[in-house]
Amino acid sequence: MNTFLSKLSPSITDMIRMDHAHVMTAFHQYEAGSSPRVKKGLVDSVSVALEIHAQLEEEIFYPALRAVEDTDFMKKSVPEHDEMRRLIGQLRKLEPGDAKYDETFYELMNHVIHHVADEETLLLPAAERVLADQLGELGARMTKRRLQLAAPRTGEIAGGMARAMGPGALVAGAGALLACGYLLARPRGDRAAWVRRGQKTAQR
Ligand SMILES: [Fe+2]
Ligand SMILES: [Fe+2]
Repeated sequence: MNTFLSKLSPSITDMIRMDHAHVMTAFHQYEAGSSPRVKKGLVDSVSVALEIHAQLEEEIFYPALRAVEDTDFMKKSVPEHDEMRRLIGQLRKLEPGDAKYDETFYELMNHVIHHVADEETLLLPAAERVLADQLGELGARMTKRRLQLAAPRTGEIAGGMARAMGPGALVAGAGALLACGYLLARPRGDRAAWVRRGQKTAQR
């Protein structure tokens, strides 16, 4: 593991909490009365963030925790991710003007809020108890894997945020990715390109 990246990376549990906080903030910004463009931008951005987050948990966090402590919630966590993916798939088939768009997004929101509440009250404290000496290393592994998963989707992430909230969203979007170590781990030229790409998308 790259030592520089290891030092920059938060613990895996802090990283998961930051991802949750980012998605909850985006949920609060969704309004049924917003324009279709804004709604779609927000939904696209949230969907990518959730898909990457769920994959990271399934590949790195859940197996590490399951190796030392298998709880009932661990058994339902992946099926809950699958239900989340099903709802995201439904949203992608709908247009933001469709009558079912808001209803489906609220269903996704409700599902994710309950899942996150269980993770934050059960899984994260358990991990901090039984994986205390591995949290930093697992965080670094998660940062490395996030780069691999997010790199081909940066256009979707930046574009969705920019459409949802205009150019000002780039600050929030960049902040969210900084928090998860994505932009920090990019070369300086890449970071500037990411911001420029989002600015162009916001102007379209
Ligand atoms: Fe999860
Ligand atoms: Fe989570």
